[in-house]
Amino acid sequence: SPCAMVDLFGRRVSYLRLSVTDRCDLRCLYCMAEDMTFLPRDQVLSIEELDLMASAFVAAGITKLRITGGEPLVRKGVMDLFAGLSRHLKSGALKELTLTTNGTQLARHAEDLARAGVKRVNVSLDTLDAERFRAITRRGSLGVVMDGIRAALEAGLKVKLNAVALAGVTPDEVFDLIHFTHGRGMDLTFIETMPLGDVGVDRIDQYFPLDALRRLIEARLTLTDTSERTGGPARYTRVAETGGRLGFITPMSHSFCESCNRVRVSATGMLHTCLGQEDAFDLKAPLRASADGAALRAAIAGAIRAKPRGHDFVIARVGTPALARHMSALGG
Ligand code: GTP
Ligand code: 5AD
Ligand code: SF4
Repeated sequence: SPCAMVDLFGRRVSYLRLSVTDRCDLRCLYCMAEDMTFLPRDQVLSIEELDLMASAFVAAGITKLRITGGEPLVRKGVMDLFAGLSRHLKSGALKELTLTTNGTQLARHAEDLARAGVKRVNVSLDTLDAERFRAITRRGSLGVVMDGIRAALEAGLKVKLNAVALAGVTPDEVFDLIHFTHGRGMDLTFIETMPLGDVGVDRIDQYFPLDALRRLIEARLTLTDTSERTGGPARYTRVAETGGRLGFITPMSHSFCESCNRVRVSATGMLHTCLGQEDAFDLKAPLRASADGAALRAAIAGAIRAKPRGHDFVIARVGTPALARHMSALGG
């Protein structure tokens, strides 16, 4: 029953982030190291198993489902997964089916995503400068992502841009990002970088606190806090001059764990009950064990009850990431 989805701190879990691959065609500086070892393919759940997994969570009371990666759109068969999962939108069990993507494959898939009932996509983009984009992603082309964003908008999808706040980058581009997004009816969200995995770069040198970014913005634009929410951790403001929406995700400076409503499942079928803790529960075995899903539902309920209170991230020098796991392993 849905009551099984409440933890010992009284938080109701209604949001599943399902990772369909740990692979990505980019290597963003804050997310991955240059050299990554990816999961052997035979450990990754099949498309059918991913559908069963998501459907078990929907049956348990999840109403928001976000497909993540790595980069979800590099997973073979991912559009079949979306098409299949859209039945939960039609039945009314699921209120939102969506994804977070780097945008490189979006031009090819935007129309099919819209057809599957996706209304909104979050695209990760930190810069509007082609050279900087290449430097941050180590291998991407900005033009390809721009084409993806355009295709998504043309397919009728709402697009939210996610920008990780980076020292030396974001202060310089913040107004361009605001005008680019708001000029196209897109939301914009800034994210504080979190210390997951050794990325070979000093986090202290990357980190730019959002309080400081907000002060910078408010020197030129008028921000009004709103109580609007999208089901994730962002707190939103309205920009009077553009009419657009600007969100702040502040895991480091103002943690939002006490109102956390989410859990994650990795591409190997491990349930992670907190992004910032090691707690992980194997769901692959119970998924494969019984056809009626009873074992799976029991495993989910047990794990969610014990969801940790929150993360204890600190930004530190290289060699001491809070967690060995990279952000890409669970897709944020
Ligand atoms: P909306 O549906 O638009 O609200 O999206 P969302 O913020 O839930 O998802 P998205 O994938 O866009 O995540 C944006 C950023 O927030 C990523 O960097 C995530 O890692 C981070 N984030 C999302 N959920 C959590 C969380 O539970 N804890 C922490 N620390 N960060 C999170
Ligand atoms: N800290 C914060 N956000 C991160 N992302 C990737 N790595 C990090 C990090 N270390 C973001 C991506 C994407 C989302 C899924 O997570 O830019 O928007
Ligand atoms: Fe890939 Fe996204 Fe990580 Fe960048 S942030 S390496 S695009 S998963």
